[in-house]
Amino acid sequence: GKVAVLMGGQSAEREVSLMSGSGVLKALQAKGVDAHAFDPAQRDLSELKREGFGRCFIALHGRFGEDGTVQGALELLGIPYTGSGVMASSIAIDKVMTKRVWLAEGIPTPKYRLLRRGAYQRGQVVRIPDELGLPLIVKPAREGSSIGVAKVQGYSEMQGAVDAAAALDADVLCEQFVSGDEVTCPILGTGDAARALPVIRIVAPAGNYDYQNKYFTDDTQYLVPCGLPAGEEAAIQALVLKAYRVLGCRGWGRIDVMIDGRTRQPSLLEINTSPGMTGHSLVPMSARAAGISYEDLCVQLLASATL
Ligand code: DAL
Ligand code: MG
Repeated sequence: GKVAVLMGGQSAEREVSLMSGSGVLKALQAKGVDAHAFDPAQRDLSELKREGFGRCFIALHGRFGEDGTVQGALELLGIPYTGSGVMASSIAIDKVMTKRVWLAEGIPTPKYRLLRRGAYQRGQVVRIPDELGLPLIVKPAREGSSIGVAKVQGYSEMQGAVDAAAALDADVLCEQFVSGDEVTCPILGTGDAARALPVIRIVAPAGNYDYQNKYFTDDTQYLVPCGLPAGEEAAIQALVLKAYRVLGCRGWGRIDVMIDGRTRQPSLLEINTSPGMTGHSLVPMSARAAGISYEDLCVQLLASATL
């Protein structure tokens, strides 16, 4: 039957989602799927039902797409969709809630402080480096693609970084910076059948893997095979699989990890439950290294759509 590729949406990652969605749409159509673009920012989701769509491929990123809201609407409409369900999506979009679950399960993640709008004083903000050290990372709790993220190098930069993140989210996460290797690892499948794909190591210009270097420059190096000792890659794959399962994720995901350059200990930063599918994106890159083409990946994900 008809498949809707949900793309666009109203989050700050709208532009990225349009790139992901058009790639997915083209791939599914090339594989003979009767797929159509559907932008929830422009049309009411209830039209999916009226127009006879039988399944949805969610290529939305960020809030109102990756956060359980669209997933809940599709549950109510009774239309199967790709990726995680309501609860896993809504926990995973929130980097602080994700950390709480991971810490409770013994999964390492960098030390952090949460600043909740209205519940902190300006004087407190400048003292956070006393606890977390410098540099440190400031980010909105529920954004993606590094939007609103700052690496703070000195006390004087703290307030500006927090204000910028607070403009995007009521919850601001201040996180200890882990200096070392930046890697990411996709996961495909659900529950016991889930498996980790090859780890990708990211080498960005000046160590700055920001929005621009994620999507628009060709200066970022992606290493797959990642070049880490085999034992280290396998340990990361096992760790991200556990981290994915404890959140109850479904279908697919991608977990971003820092490896401490001195101790070689991995720390999990976050999970993306609707990872990018753009020409620069990491899940397709890793899948290709595992022998899965972009088109086959899209077909496989669509086949996993469920309620
Ligand atoms: N949030 C972007 C789309 C990603 O993680 O791929
Ligand atoms: Mg993310």
